[in-house]
Amino acid sequence: MQKERRVSPQTKKEDEVLDLALRPQSFSQYIGQEKIKKNISIIIEAAKKRKEACIEHILFYGGSGLGKTTLSYIVAKEMGSGIRVIAGPSIKKAGDLAAILTNLREGDVLFIDEIHRMNRVCEEMIYPAMEEFKLNLIIGNGPMARTMELKVPRFTLIGATTRLAFLSSPLRSRFGGTFRVENYKKNEIEEIIKRSSSLLDIKIKNDAVKLIASCSRFNPRVANRLLKRVRDFSEVEGNKTVSRKDAQEALSFLDIDEMGLESGDRKILQTLEEKFSGGPAGLHSLSIASSEEKETIIDIYEPYLVQIGFIKRTPRGRVITEKAKKHLKTIK
Ligand SMILES: Nc1ncnc2c1ncn2[C@@H]1O[C@H](COP(=O)(O)OP(=O)(O)OP(=O)(O)O)[C@@H](O)[C@H]1O
Ligand SMILES: [Mg+2]
Repeated sequence: MQKERRVSPQTKKEDEVLDLALRPQSFSQYIGQEKIKKNISIIIEAAKKRKEACIEHILFYGGSGLGKTTLSYIVAKEMGSGIRVIAGPSIKKAGDLAAILTNLREGDVLFIDEIHRMNRVCEEMIYPAMEEFKLNLIIGNGPMARTMELKVPRFTLIGATTRLAFLSSPLRSRFGGTFRVENYKKNEIEEIIKRSSSLLDIKIKNDAVKLIASCSRFNPRVANRLLKRVRDFSEVEGNKTVSRKDAQEALSFLDIDEMGLESGDRKILQTLEEKFSGGPAGLHSLSIASSEEKETIIDIYEPYLVQIGFIKRTPRGRVITEKAKKHLKTIK
């Protein structure tokens, strides 16, 4: 069984309240992603000037916890529109989609989260709704079947996905704007941690903010979660202000090193170094040697290790880099 990972960007139960409390409400509170903010502001302003109720359909893609849902709510707010939120996997039948679309009000935003997991039949049904604001429903079956055309209020579809490649190209091409939500820079994550501290009424030293930021995998959700854990730790110690020492102790108690790696990540690196003399090692062999499932290596461990330049993927397999070897030495 997999150990609980505190640095995983996917939502956990404990994040739900935190996510809500800390979610920025406007572009001015939303830190970073300057290109997206600017582009969308222009799109909204232009639509307002033309007195159009809607903007073109928008797709956000990027890793978990980077702020796609947050952005979607902000876009609706900046447009002055209502928002209807629905999870892709919950749209299972044609009737589900018809009910959602026909219940929208003119100018609303329909936000479909995890849009790549929407049922394929519904996906095809949504094309005419996106293009011409109409739905073709098939009523009855066999020789008695007939189609009925339903009008749908003008709406803006905002889709969010962590897996752009899983989206069919006809659907992708129907979005007027596709935006990649990027990982944050270190100074942006520091700013996010400071903002969250002030919202949560946490007094924290600057060097503690920096340390949490460096462990956060450049991900706001992970940063907020770590901030909360560090604050709890510091409170139990009876400290009123979170110091770097508190942060250091809390993070080492949580087994997170200053690159944001946990024991599972380090095990992959150590396996590569010790059992494969640094590699290259094929996925299958690495999986057996580290007793981790192939999918877990690909989805959970590898993306960040590749991103920070600790693992290189070569045609012959995975190779550990000098940078990673140095890091392993420092934490031994
Ligand atoms: N740019 C930002 N500025 C400040 N806080 C942010 C920013 N982006 C995200 N956050 C914080 O991170 C939390 C997670 O963001 P959000 O839920 O929007 O991520 P997501 O991309 O939708 O993730 P998932 O793919 O798991 O649904 C938010 O509640 C918010 O507190
Ligand atoms: Mg989301």
